[in-house]
Amino acid sequence: MTSDSSDTVNNSDAVNSSDTLGINQSPDACNKVDTQKILEIDRNNVFHSSTHLKQYATGELPGRIITGGSGIRIRDSEGTELIDAFAGLYCVNIGYGRTEMAEAIYEQAKKLAYYHTYVGHTNEALVELSERIINMAPVGMSKVYYGMSGSDANETQLKLVWYYNNARGLPEKKKIISRDRGYHGSSIASGSMTGLPLFHNYFDLPLDRIKHTIAPHYYRREDDNMSELEFSRHCAAKLEEMILAEGPETVAAMIGEPVLGTGGIIPPPEGYWAEIRKVLDKYDVLLIADEVVCGFGRLGSDFGSIHYDMKPDLMTIAKGLTSAYQPLSGVIVGEKVWNVLEEGTDQWGAMGHGYTYSGHPIGAASAICNLNIIERENLVGNARDTGAYLQQRMQETFANHPLVGESRGVGLLHALEFSSNKTNREHFDPNLKVGPQIAAACLEEGLIARAMPQGDILGFAPPLVISPAEVDSIVERAERAINKVTDKLITAGEWTAK
Ligand SMILES: Cc1ncc(COP(=O)(O)O)c(C=O)c1O
Repeated sequence: MTSDSSDTVNNSDAVNSSDTLGINQSPDACNKVDTQKILEIDRNNVFHSSTHLKQYATGELPGRIITGGSGIRIRDSEGTELIDAFAGLYCVNIGYGRTEMAEAIYEQAKKLAYYHTYVGHTNEALVELSERIINMAPVGMSKVYYGMSGSDANETQLKLVWYYNNARGLPEKKKIISRDRGYHGSSIASGSMTGLPLFHNYFDLPLDRIKHTIAPHYYRREDDNMSELEFSRHCAAKLEEMILAEGPETVAAMIGEPVLGTGGIIPPPEGYWAEIRKVLDKYDVLLIADEVVCGFGRLGSDFGSIHYDMKPDLMTIAKGLTSAYQPLSGVIVGEKVWNVLEEGTDQWGAMGHGYTYSGHPIGAASAICNLNIIERENLVGNARDTGAYLQQRMQETFANHPLVGESRGVGLLHALEFSSNKTNREHFDPNLKVGPQIAAACLEEGLIARAMPQGDILGFAPPLVISPAEVDSIVERAERAINKVTDKLITAGEWTAK
């Protein structure tokens, strides 16, 4: 909201201007704002992501005004403090309230707030950041192209892959294979690569050139007797089947998150990426690692590609690159692809791809400051060690809980998948909305955990600054919430422990 909300005031005669509501005051004063009046202005003017528009407009869906945060906690306009066990949208990795970041942004804005990066123009922050990213990335990565979001970076990926095969004289080789439950964004191409029906339905997606192979979701395997490795080979066989059915001469690339994120926080089964890589190599298909969630430490390694030795040809980065203090994303292009792109421009002239804000100096300065903090505070090491503690605490608390089918994770990513029958892994009736009920019960305990959009799955991805004591607090609150919903389901006669 801006301080000048005269337009919004005109739309709502019952509402004062935001200046008089305290919106622009200090964080402490913010707790005194008139929440309901601000929410009314919000309902009248803001179009929110992933929201039931009518329920929000009518007030049936309550809003929340976030006014500040520190470490792993945020607070709202009513003064409620919440543990954010999802780091916003798995992005505020260095935690909230870092004045060092604010200062880096301020200093860069004073020095050079903007200049474009077209036709060889650059800025010092961008040069420093790019060298640093290439040095951190797996061997063979060559250049970074910047965007503002994970979605636009994945749009760029697709265009680069198409250009690459045009430059190689393979104009038919254009199909992209993604995976069911994959999440790659919600723009036209990235939304098509996303493998969740919610992001396709009623938007006429996915695009024809984008196909989806099976998710490496071992817990949901059809054949109970398969080992993890056998299941990974089964996934690779399914991929090969799809490539052959489509025609290898038409398949350009596969995109995958090292650990499936929004689709349910699903670490790959044993040997998965090695088996997949073999199939891709056999048919001259590129691998794009979507590192938007895993990149910059979340798994306890610099990148998911390194953690699982994926050997990608291209990588997508965002979120943890700036810990969301500024919107910044990137496409890291490996040498093999880069060399062909260079030759393409030799044939056809300058590449017709560009974003006004690509390589934005303020984004770059905030990324440098963020990477400094990650390095100085050894946050990748903390994600590994405190992450191991999170996994252990979750396992010992929930593996035998009657409502929890599976407790799984890696580093500082964890999911609890709920099942109505632990033995045969049955799904709950979706109308019971068990996942959302548990997320709501967590909120009552002062804990933000995310009901993932498909299946009854509760996700955890706290900031990388989390301490073991804070892990304990998350696990205890989640346990109380899950027990509360368990009791409620039993009392209502909606479920009995099996
Ligand atoms: C793996 C992955 N890729 C891409 C995106 C899209 O990023 P954005 O929301 O910044 O467009 C997301 C967002 O959650 C993501 O998790």
